[in-house]
Amino acid sequence: MTSLAGRRVLVTGAGGGLGPSVVAAAGAAGARLVLVDVAQDRLDALAAEFSDWVESAHAVDLLDAEAVSAFAVEATSATPVDVVWHLVGGWRGGTPLQEQPLEDWEWLHDLLVRTTVHVARAFAEQLTASDQGRFAIISAKEAQAPTSKNAAYATAKAASEAIVLALANGFKGTTATANVVVVPAILTPAMREKNPDKDWGAFVPAEEIADALVYLSSPAGAKMNGQRIRLYSGGPS
Ligand SMILES: NC(=O)c1ccc[n+]([C@@H]2O[C@H](COP(=O)([O-])OP(=O)(O)OC[C@H]3O[C@@H](n4cnc5c(N)ncnc54)[C@H](OP(=O)(O)O)[C@@H]3O)[C@@H](O)[C@H]2O)c1
Repeated sequence: MTSLAGRRVLVTGAGGGLGPSVVAAAGAAGARLVLVDVAQDRLDALAAEFSDWVESAHAVDLLDAEAVSAFAVEATSATPVDVVWHLVGGWRGGTPLQEQPLEDWEWLHDLLVRTTVHVARAFAEQLTASDQGRFAIISAKEAQAPTSKNAAYATAKAASEAIVLALANGFKGTTATANVVVVPAILTPAMREKNPDKDWGAFVPAEEIADALVYLSSPAGAKMNGQRIRLYSGGPS
C-alpha cells in the first residue's frame, strides 16, 4: 500500500526545484506536511498553493545546528513527524579537481553534508518513536562515479549518502528506515514548461522522484532500509 494517510511528512529544502512535486505527491497520498527552507517567501507561496495539506512552513537555516535542534523540539514535539525528506541541494563544479576553488569544496560540504547531519541528528529520535519512521535524501550518480570536474560535488554527495546509510544502520531492529534515491538530474515541471521541445532524455521527472519517496515512506516500503535506489538504467554506479 502506498498511502501516507495519517503520516506527518517534514520536507527540508521544500522551496527548491523538487519541492512542489514532492509536496503534491505526499498530499495526494494522504500526508500532512511541515515545510522548511531558508527563504520564507518561497515557503509561503508553496503553503498557499497546497494549503489543503500543508500544516506549517518554517524558515530555518539548516546550517545552524542549534536552530535545527530547537526547531525539532519546538515545532514538532507536540505533533512529531513520521517522515523526513531532506532535499537541500546546490552545485558547483565544472573545472578540473586541482583548479576548483577550496571555497567551493567548503560550500558544498556545508550545503550537502552539514545540513544532512543536522537534520538526521535532530529527527532520529522522532523517527524511531514513530511506528513508520522514514528518512530519505536525493543523491547524484557522481557520488559513486566521480569525475574530475565534479570532484567536490561527488565527494559531498558521497558523504551525505554515508550519513543516511549510517542512520539506516542505527535504525536496524526498529520500524524506521533511511534510504537514498539516486538520480542523474531532475526535470521539474517548470523546466519542461520553459523548453517543451528539448530532449530531456537523461533527466528524471520530479513527479517520478516524488513517487519513489512516497513509496519508500509508505507501508509498502517497510523492508527497504539502507538502500541506494537508482532511478536510471545502466552502469554499476
Ligand atoms: N537538481 C538536480 O538535477 C539534482 C540532481 C541530483 C540530485 N539532486 C538533489 O535533489 C535534491 C533536490 O534538488 P533541488 O534542485 O530541489 O534542490 P535545490 O533547489 O538546490 O535546494 C533545495 C532548497 O534548499 C534550500 N536551502 C539551501 N541552503 C539551505 C539552508 N542552509 N537551510 C535551509 N534550506 C536551504 C535552497 O535555497 P536556495 O535556493 O536559496 O539555496 C532551496 O530552496 C537536492 O538534495 C539535490 O542535491 C538534484
